[in-house]
Amino acid sequence: MEIKTDFLVIGSGIGGLSFALKACEAGEVVVVTKKEDTESNTNYAQGGIASVFAKDDSFDLHVEDTLKAGAGLCNPQVVKKVVQAGPRCIEELIRIGVRFTKRRGKEEELDLGLEGGHSRNRVVHAADLTGKEVENSLLRAVKAKKNVKILEDHIAIDLITQHHIKDYQRKPGEKIKCWGAYVLDKEKNQVITCLSKITLLATGGAGRVYLHTTNPSIATGDGIAMAYRAGARVANLEFIQFHPTALYHQKGNSFLISEAVRGEGGILRLSSGETFMEKYDPRRELASRDVVARAIDHELKKSGDRCVYLDITHLDQKFIKLRFPNIYGKCLSVGLDITKDWIPVVPAAHYICGGVVTDMEGKTEIENLYACGEVTCTGMHGANRLASNSLLEAIAFAHFSAESAKNKISAMKDFSFPPIPPWSLEGVLISRNGSSSLTIGTGYRNSCGIMWGSFAPIGV
Ligand code: FAD
Ligand code: SIN
Repeated sequence: MEIKTDFLVIGSGIGGLSFALKACEAGEVVVVTKKEDTESNTNYAQGGIASVFAKDDSFDLHVEDTLKAGAGLCNPQVVKKVVQAGPRCIEELIRIGVRFTKRRGKEEELDLGLEGGHSRNRVVHAADLTGKEVENSLLRAVKAKKNVKILEDHIAIDLITQHHIKDYQRKPGEKIKCWGAYVLDKEKNQVITCLSKITLLATGGAGRVYLHTTNPSIATGDGIAMAYRAGARVANLEFIQFHPTALYHQKGNSFLISEAVRGEGGILRLSSGETFMEKYDPRRELASRDVVARAIDHELKKSGDRCVYLDITHLDQKFIKLRFPNIYGKCLSVGLDITKDWIPVVPAAHYICGGVVTDMEGKTEIENLYACGEVTCTGMHGANRLASNSLLEAIAFAHFSAESAKNKISAMKDFSFPPIPPWSLEGVLISRNGSSSLTIGTGYRNSCGIMWGSFAPIGV
């Protein structure tokens, strides 16, 4: 089966949906997503979206905090562009119906949380369920658009480029081009050829590569692997961020205990009750998350204990339930009343700072292939992402990419697709075997029984 569209969006988190919402102003959009439409890292985001709104804050301070957290490896131009786009992105979300928490008694002002590494309160949030609120609002807005189709349970398995066309010889200097993706329709167990003039990769992160992770099951790095196999440049994959405080409990499944809990005064303690963060950083519990995660790891190695504890029992009970309804409810479900009990926590894999390299408009090195969100390496995060800068980067780059892609498609009036063969595993493997730079040594069988050449570069 073959479908044709103007824009193919792979992934339905904040990046994919924000792009779809804008791209549909310039053409037909198909969004493919590998489980139900809400299932994404976005849906589980707790803390919020960093953006400058406070009177004592400035773009310069947000940029400075981001560069410091990134350990000198961010691209300052990208950081500036994203930070400056922040307030406009938040306002757009409010316009489509996102209900962010307001300051108590000041209904016209956003409540701004504090998280590790931030020198000012600047985290816009919807209690501790920010991601769910954003995801649902974006979905509602996208579903109201007539020219956007969302295909659930559709897994993109390979980007369509010249290497799928038998005997295709690239001319000297000819770029690798993307004409969409082969997509597995799980229900029909059939691979669709999904042809598109412009493709956006928004497949999110890769936390599930680790046993202990805050990420849901969709986060398996598919987009990075597909882009790399197609010949795109990827970078900084070694910078995996560990969140310091995942719930340590048999039934906890690495549930995240938001950094906002420390922002509201949560104290880290050893099993003896002793505090320890003062030994590692003058910012104590509010040092950036790499510092806090390393400190916890160091203490656990010294003591041989399995976890440390996060204590918020000194905070007002009513406030805890109002500010952290999700965390309160989850902990209660495993027998912990966080208004009275310390929360057992350990670091867990949380975020991949690297990914598919893009320019400042979200363009990858493959023609007509854009990327945004956690799948990318835009230069925003460097070696370590500042808290709540991920949703911000994803939505800002969705906007930059959509603007660029809309311009591009308006100049593609005479565009036609080359003859693309239907998916054939055998054919692909044969044609790949003929290419000089092929490695399929790391191929594995995924849950659908399809053999993928994970991270295998393809030459055409
Ligand atoms: P995602 O939201 O992960 O969406 C990826 C989409 O791609 C999904 O729809 C998935 O099904 C789909 N997909 C994947 N592979 C395929 C495939 N092969 N074919 C088709 N579809 C595919 N960041 C913040 O800034 N603030 C926070 O408060 C915050 N809290 C977090 C809390 C948790 C528990 C977690 C896990 C992350 C948190 N983050 C936070 C990080 C942030 O949520 C993510 O980085 C961000 O949501 C990524 O958005 P995305 O659109 O790039 O990807
Ligand atoms: C959190 O709420 O601690 C997660 C924030 C983030 O990942 O930026």
